[in-house]
Amino acid sequence: MAYLNENYLKLQAGYLFPEIARRVRDFCEANPEAARGLIRCGIGDVTEPLPRAVIDAMKRAVDELGSRETFRGYGPEQGYEFLRSTIAQHDYRDRNIDIADDEIFVSDGSKCDCGYVLDILGDQNKVAVPDPVYPVYVDTNVMAGHSGAAKSDGSYEGIVYLPCTAENRYLCFPNNPTGAVASREELSRWIDYAREHESLLLFDAAYEAYISQREIPHSIFEIPGARECAVELRSFSKNGGFTGVRCGFTVMPKSVVGRADSRKKLPLHPLWHRRWSTKANSVSYPVQRGAEALYSSEGRQQVRALIEHYMSNAKILRDACAKIDMKVFGGINAPYIWVKTPAGLTSWQTFDRMLHDLNVVITPGSGFGAQGEGYFRISAFNSRQNAEEVARRVQSLS
Ligand SMILES: Cc1ncc(COP(=O)(O)O)c(C=O)c1O
Repeated sequence: MAYLNENYLKLQAGYLFPEIARRVRDFCEANPEAARGLIRCGIGDVTEPLPRAVIDAMKRAVDELGSRETFRGYGPEQGYEFLRSTIAQHDYRDRNIDIADDEIFVSDGSKCDCGYVLDILGDQNKVAVPDPVYPVYVDTNVMAGHSGAAKSDGSYEGIVYLPCTAENRYLCFPNNPTGAVASREELSRWIDYAREHESLLLFDAAYEAYISQREIPHSIFEIPGARECAVELRSFSKNGGFTGVRCGFTVMPKSVVGRADSRKKLPLHPLWHRRWSTKANSVSYPVQRGAEALYSSEGRQQVRALIEHYMSNAKILRDACAKIDMKVFGGINAPYIWVKTPAGLTSWQTFDRMLHDLNVVITPGSGFGAQGEGYFRISAFNSRQNAEEVARRVQSLS
């Protein structure tokens, strides 16, 4: 019989979203009438249709595959040149950031990249994550054997949890779940720290398109020195609505190095390149054409409209909570509002109260880490009608 990967047995059964799903299912079964008016502001999934430019580009690409002259089989494992160069040009070089086309690696999304990148990093690394945290950073490391057992508060032995202040390995700005952003000065301090301690920063910029304040950096590579110590993860899920289509990318500068057992410093780029060549065949051609279309002038306008839609929802939800004197964070440069729970209630108690009394699903902050206790997250990914209705219902919490 084959042995299994014991690390999976360390994972906690009550992973956040399945637990939310279970409670919502139980509620709906017991209260079918109320279930009809249930509004979900929990999981951060987009609700609005794909931009027209994407649909047209994907249809054209499918037609190309339908004729012998234009048919394409396997594409380059790191992504088609047309998409890599479009990304490098628009997201980086047009903003005076030095990134070469072949430093872009197209993938099926940032969640996947969070796990894939561990393939090229040694098991002996000490891993640090913020707390609260996007749970994927932690669970992928547990699966790879980079942690000890789970503790009673849901954290794992061997992983360093940073109460959203000091040192780090994974950075996520704009942040999921708190909606916080990092200033240029704060990011510069991270880069200084990483260079001094020879750390690697994994910078998750999945929500960069939601930044509204001009002074906030969109990329870690806006900070001098980042090319020496940072890898950036980007996604088309939240700007282009690609959560179901699946496409994202990593930026792996050729100047980022890691240490071999021989103590020699070697670049990560060739390992990452090799990882893709061996383990993947990139993302389908129509999807890559769809992603490319997000950068056309039409596509850019349509992305802007999508973001404005979600951020107007964020304002409605944020204002509604503030109106009843709840302490709110985020919702200005990110589609998430991070709210202090009403006095005396834990995150899960607030979840249950909002589910039962308001028929609104939110995400309990404690599900993102011990430091998230006492908070909950409201997602602005919704229709305008639902956002307005949630804002109305929230008033009864006062
Ligand atoms: C911080 C963060 N990174 C990555 C992702 C996943 O993005 P993708 O859909 O590209 O896998 C999410 C999705 O919610 C996220 O919140």
